[in-house]
Amino acid sequence: MSTKTWTWHTSPNGITTPARDRRTGKVAAIVTPDLPPLKSTEDGPPLPAVFRSPFPATTQSDKARRIMVRPVLDFRSDTATRPSPAMRQAMAEAPVGDDVFDEDPTINRLEETVAALLGKEAAIFVPSGTMSNQIGIRIHCKQGDEVICESNCHVYNYEQAGFAQLGGVVARTVPGVNGVLHVDQLRELIRPDNCHFVRTRLVSLENTHNRGGGKVWPYEQLADVCEWAHENGLATHLDGARLWNASIATGISMADWAKHFDTVSVCFSKGLGAPVGSALVGTKKHIAEADRHRKLFGGGMRQAGVIAAGALYGVEHNFQRLAEDHFNAKRLADGIRQIPGLKLVPDEVDTNLVIFQIDPRLEPAAEFVARLKEQGLIAGSFGRNNVRLVTHLDVTTADVDAALAILRRVCAADLRELPPSAAAKTAYA
Ligand SMILES: Cc1ncc(COP(=O)(O)O)c(C=O)c1O
Repeated sequence: MSTKTWTWHTSPNGITTPARDRRTGKVAAIVTPDLPPLKSTEDGPPLPAVFRSPFPATTQSDKARRIMVRPVLDFRSDTATRPSPAMRQAMAEAPVGDDVFDEDPTINRLEETVAALLGKEAAIFVPSGTMSNQIGIRIHCKQGDEVICESNCHVYNYEQAGFAQLGGVVARTVPGVNGVLHVDQLRELIRPDNCHFVRTRLVSLENTHNRGGGKVWPYEQLADVCEWAHENGLATHLDGARLWNASIATGISMADWAKHFDTVSVCFSKGLGAPVGSALVGTKKHIAEADRHRKLFGGGMRQAGVIAAGALYGVEHNFQRLAEDHFNAKRLADGIRQIPGLKLVPDEVDTNLVIFQIDPRLEPAAEFVARLKEQGLIAGSFGRNNVRLVTHLDVTTADVDAALAILRRVCAADLRELPPSAAAKTAYA
C-alpha cells in the first residue's frame, strides 16, 4: 500500500496552489482556495481538484458547485464554460421525444430558431462542430472531389481531414492572412475537366477564424469569394463555429453573413456556453441529405432535447453578451502589449481569441504554458512559440487582470533567469 503524502498551499494572490508529491516535487493537481485541501491518499495520487468536488450534487446548489469546482483561470478555450443554473434548469425541464423520428419538440424548436436566425430553410442539430462541418463538406463533395480551403482552417487541421478519411475528398489549401483569403488567390485553382484531375467542387471558409486569432472576415472580401465560387459552379460552406462572435463584433446579422453560403455550421458549445451541440443549416434538400449522413456517422440522437435545451438557452440568453467577451479580450490584449517578451499575432483583436508569440527565451510554448498553469492560469499552446488565451462566459474582467498579473510574473522571472549572454544571442521576431 502506498503511503505517499501531498502538500499544497494558497499563494498570496489567493489564486492557485499546486499540490506536489513531496518525494518527486511533481505537480499533481491544482487546488483552488475555495476547495478544502486534498487529503493524503493511500491508493495513489489524488484526482485533480476539478474532479473532486467533495459535495454530493444533491446537497449543493448548482451555483455553489460551479464555484467550488472552478479549478483556476481557464482561458484555454470558450469550450471550457459550464452550464449555468438557469441553463441546467431549462435542460432539466425540456420536453423530449425521439429525434431520429423528428419527434423531439425541443430539438425541432432549436432547429427552427437557428434556421430562421441564419435565414435558411432548415437546420439539423448534431453533437459537434466537427460532425457538422464534415457533413457539410460531404453534402457537396463525393469521392474524387476537391475542397478549397485556407491553410490554417479547422476543417483541414483539426478534424483529421475527415472528408478524406470518410469520403475520399481531397483538400487544396491556400495560405491566408490570419485566415482570410482574397478572391484573386483562388481564380486559377479550379481544375480543368480532364481525366487527370480531381473535380473542384467546394470552397470552405471559417469565420471567425480560430488560428487567425478570432479574425472576422472583411465582409466584402468574403462576399467576393463566395460570388466567384457560385459563378464558377462551386458550392460554398462556412465553418461558423464562432459566427455569433463575428455578428456581435460587426453588427452584421447572422443571416447577412450566412446568405453567401450554401451550408453553414454553427456551434452552441463555444461562446454561447452550452455543454453540447452544433447545427448545420441550408436548404431543405441539403438538410434532408445531412440527416442521412448524420445517421451514417452515428450522430442520430434520441431524447437529446435535454442538450438541445442548453443550446437554445445559449442562443436566447448568451448571444448578445458576447460583447463582454470581446471587451475582456481587448483588455487582455492591451495588457499583453505591455509585457516584455510577448507579441500579439495578429496585433488587433477582433473577438474573443487572443494569440501571442513568446520571446525565444521563453520557449518552448508548451513549457511556458506549463509554468503559467503552475501559477493558476490555463492557456493553450501551438507550435514552438504560440500561446492562445480565450475569453468566455466564465471569465470575468477581474479574471483577465489576474491572468495578466500571472503573465507578467512568469515572463519577468523567466527572462531574468537567463544569462545576459544567452539572452543577447536570441533574436525576437
Ligand atoms: C473554428 C472551429 N470549427 C469547428 C470546431 C469543432 O467543434 P467541436 O469541438 O464541437 O467538434 C472548432 C472547435 O474548437 C472550431 O474552433
